[in-house]
Amino acid sequence: MDFNNVYDDELRALAYAGLEFPGTYYLAFRDLPAIFARHVTGRRALDFGCGAGRSTRFLQNLGFETSGVDIAAEMIRQARKMDPGGDYHLVADSTAGPFDQPVFDLILAAFTFDNIPTREKKRVLFRTLGRCLKSGGVIVNLVSAPEIYVHEWASFSTRDFPGNRTAVSGQKVRIVMKDVPDQRPVEDILCADEEYRAIYAASNLELVTTYRPLADGSEPFIWIHETRVPPWVIYILRHLTTG
Ligand SMILES: C[S@@+](CC[C@H](N)C(=O)[O-])C[C@H]1O[C@@H](n2cnc3c(N)ncnc32)[C@H](O)[C@@H]1O
Repeated sequence: MDFNNVYDDELRALAYAGLEFPGTYYLAFRDLPAIFARHVTGRRALDFGCGAGRSTRFLQNLGFETSGVDIAAEMIRQARKMDPGGDYHLVADSTAGPFDQPVFDLILAAFTFDNIPTREKKRVLFRTLGRCLKSGGVIVNLVSAPEIYVHEWASFSTRDFPGNRTAVSGQKVRIVMKDVPDQRPVEDILCADEEYRAIYAASNLELVTTYRPLADGSEPFIWIHETRVPPWVIYILRHLTTG
């Protein structure tokens, strides 16, 4: 499939460098501290698809000792600029770069798999990540719910993309981020829950549990669909032979 990583772009990397946890993003990160407390023992963490380091710095603030990897040079440049002491690596596609040993207690992929084009590529990557987990370690795969592409949100708009409504797993979907000046649509690949489950099974990973964060109305944001439809899915995964 012809698919460009839209994040390998200076303007988009700059937008991400200034992005923290506004609006709908708040819900993606809100429950992670409690989820880590429940499922993760140990402090060594890999941020797979770290972008400009927002999710890496989030992990550091929770006390994790982090390494971040990404395939987009501009993103890694921004991550290093914002966190000069941090450990960030530009990696080749379909690899975890220098990491090929079972050393991590936690591997976080925050929105990374939204952009990985094929089932086969996702499978290769999950197998690679599974091999990087210590015994008892977990992968936390935070992704966009398919519903995010067909509703309006505090932080996203999809109204200009009617094609999203008929897209099936493996097809392109488009979404505009409202919190950044760069209003060009982000192009993702739709991946439904059943497709992710099939990929995990084929990647030697056990799905421990799934979280779908909803807003309860007490948050300091003006929600649109966030109190009724979960915009994100958080999968907790273990390696079958190390769990
Ligand atoms: C939506 S951004 C999220 C960045 C960061 N996790 C955050 O929460 O701010 C997704 C990132 O995944 C990266 N990515 C996509 N495919 C990748 C791959 N095969 N290996 C590593 N990173 C990848 C992109 O370059 C991009 O920086």
